[in-house]
Amino acid sequence: MRIAIDGPAGAGKTTLGRALAERFGLRFVNTGLLYRAVAWALQKGYSLSELRLSLDERGRPVVDGHALPKAELQTRELDRLSSEVARRPEVRARLVELQRSLARRGDGGVVMEGRDIGTVVLPDADVKLFVTAAPEERARRRARERPGASFEQMLKELKERDERDRGFGRLVPAADAIVLDTTGKTPEETVEEAVRLVERALRERSPSVEARERGR
Ligand code: C5P
Repeated sequence: MRIAIDGPAGAGKTTLGRALAERFGLRFVNTGLLYRAVAWALQKGYSLSELRLSLDERGRPVVDGHALPKAELQTRELDRLSSEVARRPEVRARLVELQRSLARRGDGGVVMEGRDIGTVVLPDADVKLFVTAAPEERARRRARERPGASFEQMLKELKERDERDRGFGRLVPAADAIVLDTTGKTPEETVEEAVRLVERALRERSPSVEARERGR
């Protein structure tokens, strides 16, 4: 089973993606970390052509054999730099290909989270969720995760990033995506709602999906 999760920064995609992966016994891939790792590497002087990038078993990006801790990648500076490098077509082409090969790993069961998963990377995913929340709520959540940043700064930076993160099939729900608004919901409530949506989508898509799952 392949679940695609898209939506803007701070909407709750990672928390939800991890929980769904655990619930349904799937691997979890956070594709934003790959864009962050490219931005990190370019800043360190790597060129795109010499950059060797993969993900380890724990979902951490590995650059030239060195795993990059998530804490080092999830900074305000890399929030901005990653969304700038993500506008370069050659970066996107390379990472879309890498993400598709990551999705094929193992038995192919994956929850993949990003901005263009349901539209570009895995257009044939079994279930597509588009997760949103009000900008103010997203900024409040992010301000808690970025020490030193005020709510006002985070709101401004999130809005700028939302603008930069459009194009290339990003931040638009796929025609067959289910939109999930997490405003005012606890992470647990969001997970429960998503589990129900995934189970319903799977029932509606059966028997093809179930037959494929049994065949694995
Ligand atoms: O999800 P996260 O905030 O870590 O992503 C960092 C940046 O990477 C985003 O702001 C976006 O510009 C880019 N991105 C993308 N496509 C994806 C995932 C992330 O363009 N599938």
